[in-house]
Amino acid sequence: MYHLGTIKISTERLVLRQFNSNDAIGIFNSYINDEKFLYYANKEKVSLEQIKQWLSSIDKKYENKEYYNWVITLKDNEVIGAINLRVDNDNDLVCLNYAIGNRHNNRGYMTEALNAVKDFTSNNLKVRKIIGGCELNNIALQRVMEKCGFKFEEARENELLLKDGFHDLKIFSITNNL
Ligand SMILES: CC(C)(COP(=O)(O)OP(=O)(O)OC[C@H]1O[C@@H](n2cnc3c(N)ncnc32)[C@H](O)[C@@H]1OP(=O)(O)O)[C@@H](O)C(=O)NCCC(=O)NCCS
Repeated sequence: MYHLGTIKISTERLVLRQFNSNDAIGIFNSYINDEKFLYYANKEKVSLEQIKQWLSSIDKKYENKEYYNWVITLKDNEVIGAINLRVDNDNDLVCLNYAIGNRHNNRGYMTEALNAVKDFTSNNLKVRKIIGGCELNNIALQRVMEKCGFKFEEARENELLLKDGFHDLKIFSITNNL
């Protein structure tokens, strides 16, 4: 696997780029405190101040060429979501995390963003395998996976801890024959 860091990716309707210190309000008004995101990503609500704090050290993180974390914006720079990769060099694979704010759901934005990241990781990073996990009842995410050509691999019982206990996790993947 090669590494290039979080480089800007443009699609028909979206721009995927590095977060910067001007994104605090955009993030705050978008996905970060949405009920569904807090539940499925098992996160706590955050304040604008906490987001600013996180962004204050983000440039340093991007110096690491193995750090992949894109903010997803519309062409007018409105923040609508995020997508990131966790890198596993030993096993030549990457694992996905994703969110689109409620207000922008079901317009095909995550499908468009994920397809772009899929192409980037396959063609530029030459990664062997891309993995996406989702809670058993997260139908929207499963649909996104299917639309992007991911294959259902397995269901792992009681593997995902959410606020109301352990849930079954469905694993989807794409293997590149490089
Ligand atoms: C899951 C998520 C990323 C999808 O983003 P999105 O931009 O709305 O996705 P898309 O519009 O590209 O595709 C959604 C698909 O799911 C379908 N869908 C949504 N809810 C559905 C439901 N309850 N039943 C059946 N299909 C559903 C939509 O119709 C669409 O499919 P279609 O194009 O065939 O009509 C977004 O809803 C989200 O961020 N959710 C909260 C956070 C989350 O779950 N993150 C992942 C785990 S941490």
